[in-house]
Amino acid sequence: MKTARLVESLPTSYIREILQAATAADCLSLAGGLPDPKYFPLDATAEALQLVADSPSVHGHLFQYASTRGYQPLIDHLQTQLSVGAGHELLMTNGSQQGIDLAVRTYLNQGDEVALEVPAYLGALQVFALAGVRVRPIPQLPNGPDLEALRKVFETGRCKMFYTVPDFHNPTGCCWSLEVRTEVARLCRKHGVLLLEDAPYRDIRFHGENLPLVSDFCSDVAIVLSSFSKTAMPGLRLGAVVAGKKLLAPMLRVKQAVDLHTNTLGQFLLAEFLVKGNYVAHIANLCRNYHAKYEALHAALELHTAEFGFHRPVQGGMFIWFVLHELDATLVAQRCLERGLAVVPGGVFFPAGEKHSINALRLNFSYLAISQLEEAAARLAAVLRELSACIAVGGRYSGVR
Ligand SMILES: Cc1ncc(COP(=O)(O)O)c(C=O)c1O
Repeated sequence: MKTARLVESLPTSYIREILQAATAADCLSLAGGLPDPKYFPLDATAEALQLVADSPSVHGHLFQYASTRGYQPLIDHLQTQLSVGAGHELLMTNGSQQGIDLAVRTYLNQGDEVALEVPAYLGALQVFALAGVRVRPIPQLPNGPDLEALRKVFETGRCKMFYTVPDFHNPTGCCWSLEVRTEVARLCRKHGVLLLEDAPYRDIRFHGENLPLVSDFCSDVAIVLSSFSKTAMPGLRLGAVVAGKKLLAPMLRVKQAVDLHTNTLGQFLLAEFLVKGNYVAHIANLCRNYHAKYEALHAALELHTAEFGFHRPVQGGMFIWFVLHELDATLVAQRCLERGLAVVPGGVFFPAGEKHSINALRLNFSYLAISQLEEAAARLAAVLRELSACIAVGGRYSGVR
């Protein structure tokens, strides 16, 4: 059976393929964006499940069809936790990935243009491809998008949406400055462009000032996506869309058409954890531990790989973006896999067919233990040395850029 045209154009998730290859017993993976399961709130979840098991008649409603908007006690709690402003509302989704999909289905037609920073989150590129919308890539600078390039794209009048990850971007770890946030908000309002602000890493800040959401400066044209995948457990598949009532109402209709509502038992488990557990302490602990892991990988890279590339320090999130001076990132990633290390070459974070000059690796530091991160950096260094030595003697690796 022939698949639909748009499905044929859907990029495969190279990362999922690498993750599959990385399941070999001695392979260390810096490839996925996986949180460390050591920090999953399993005790709170077990208690909540026990509550359900002990009194099924009280909790039987968790297994009935429910409201499209989500589980009300969770929504009530999140209104406060996420500081949802007056006139704004919340919709529970299956992760922020579904939030991206719902926003695109609701506000874009096939052939419409969406701007986004490149390199970009692969899952968003997949949604855009499936919806048949046209991507306008905006280069990313150290403090956020290239504002001049963004202004030019907005001025064409064809761009309807700007998809962004301003806090600890995937894959680069970039965090926008306050000036960039206010200017992007101003441009979105001036040109009537819908801002889709995806913020799954926002709470994972190691140090530095917590900056306002970009949407705080343009809330009338903005949709914010939150996620509990990185801060609680990704398997729960829970996220929240926050937007003004007018923007959210059609998204609710689309959500109903797509899957009726988000799994209520999962929402109950999250609500119990957020309401009864100490979420503030949980996040502080998570940030402390991820910070230590980041420092360990950062130091090991400085020690072993500085001659082959560089990376900008990050203040949070889960990723280091390691830019190679000479060796080809795809070749390095391939060789690493043969040597028991999974990393993602930067080219996969670009829209299909988009020419780019970026030669980098995305390295995740949240998943492995500190000793494994150090070993991973040593394996990466060995591959980099091996490939450059081979090239130096005119060997078969012709991966110099
Ligand atoms: C920028 C970005 N947005 C969305 C997602 C998807 O998150 P969720 O698990 O909440 O669907 C990810 C996952 O890695 C991500 O990096």
